Amino acid sequence: MNTLLLGDNENDINKAGEILRNGGLVGIPTETVYGLAANALDGKAVEKIFRAKGRPMDNPLIVHIADIGDIEKFSLVSEFPEKAKLLAEKFWSGPLTMIMPKGRAIPDEVSAGLNTVAIRFPEHKTAQAVIRAAGVPLAAPSANLSGSPSPTTAHHVISDLNGRIDAVLDGGECRVGLESTVITLACDTPRILRPGGITVEQIESVIGKIDIDDAVLHQLKSGEKAASPGMKYKHYSPKARVVIVKGESYTDFVNRNCDKKVAALCYNEDVEKLSVRAFPLGDRADINSHAHTLFDKLRQIDNENIDLVYARCPDTDGVGMAVYNRLIRAAGFEVIDLEKV
Ligand code: TXA
Ligand code: MG
Repeated sequence: MNTLLLGDNENDINKAGEILRNGGLVGIPTETVYGLAANALDGKAVEKIFRAKGRPMDNPLIVHIADIGDIEKFSLVSEFPEKAKLLAEKFWSGPLTMIMPKGRAIPDEVSAGLNTVAIRFPEHKTAQAVIRAAGVPLAAPSANLSGSPSPTTAHHVISDLNGRIDAVLDGGECRVGLESTVITLACDTPRILRPGGITVEQIESVIGKIDIDDAVLHQLKSGEKAASPGMKYKHYSPKARVVIVKGESYTDFVNRNCDKKVAALCYNEDVEKLSVRAFPLGDRADINSHAHTLFDKLRQIDNENIDLVYARCPDTDGVGMAVYNRLIRAAGFEVIDLEKV
């Protein structure tokens, strides 16, 4: 199939809407990462997403809307919990996905057979315009091949999915750069399943104490069941081995353990102290920049002849929790704590 490259003008947005209405797949920009969209109410269209990405069929998709009213209009949930309404009022549109009891319109392909559904109202104006042009809610996972870093530019989408999808709409770089926060409200105490651009602190300021799923910061023990199916898969897995290095003597450690094929995923301040290839994520204190650039740096590293990456260990406050969650998966949970060796 020939993948059409679209721009974010009105004509092309309408073209994307038409492709989606007719059961096709379009890569679309959002404020988090690019999504691979299909009509969420059409099981056959949604099934194509799994084939294009090579995604396991038991991993459910997020349904994207362009108005809070779409939830009722399209019967997307069977219950809209009070706390979900409070969070919607405060953080939608924005990088927050809420899991609720699923409504009758949701095909099994979207929910992967679960009795819940994930809903998100993206803030990106072009994403909203495409949803409106399609006239239906859009199911969309990240628009990468399963297992590679999520795409934050249209170029990333093309390099993974060219020839496998109908079109990509180029809306520039994604602002946040990491996927949305996922929280489930289909249980007594709301629980974070995936950290993202909306932080635990922000959510607790609206609905009080919430839980953080064990799988967010720790490796699941063998046989343990993931609350969010996506968390059981090895994710964001670069070709090189990634090791997280914790401790203030990071640059000394890297310089002592380097050879030609070692790289450092580090902060701007580290670069001049390092004797290996450096891929800086931004200034040390600028956590938003770390989130914004992480996936692009992992892709750059993939394109180089690098065997081993020593990554700075992020702090887990605020958006840092999301950066840590992605990086620890890229590292297959391999951490060296310099204070303990
Ligand atoms: O920012 C984002 O959320 C991006 C953009 C495109 O919106 N989308 C995205 O989708 O990251 P995806 O499919 O790559 O990640 C969705 C995560 C997966 O880990 C999946 O298992 C989980 O959400 N999920 C979806 N529906 C669920 C449900 N009903 N219960 C538990 N987890 C669910
Ligand atoms: Mg994904």
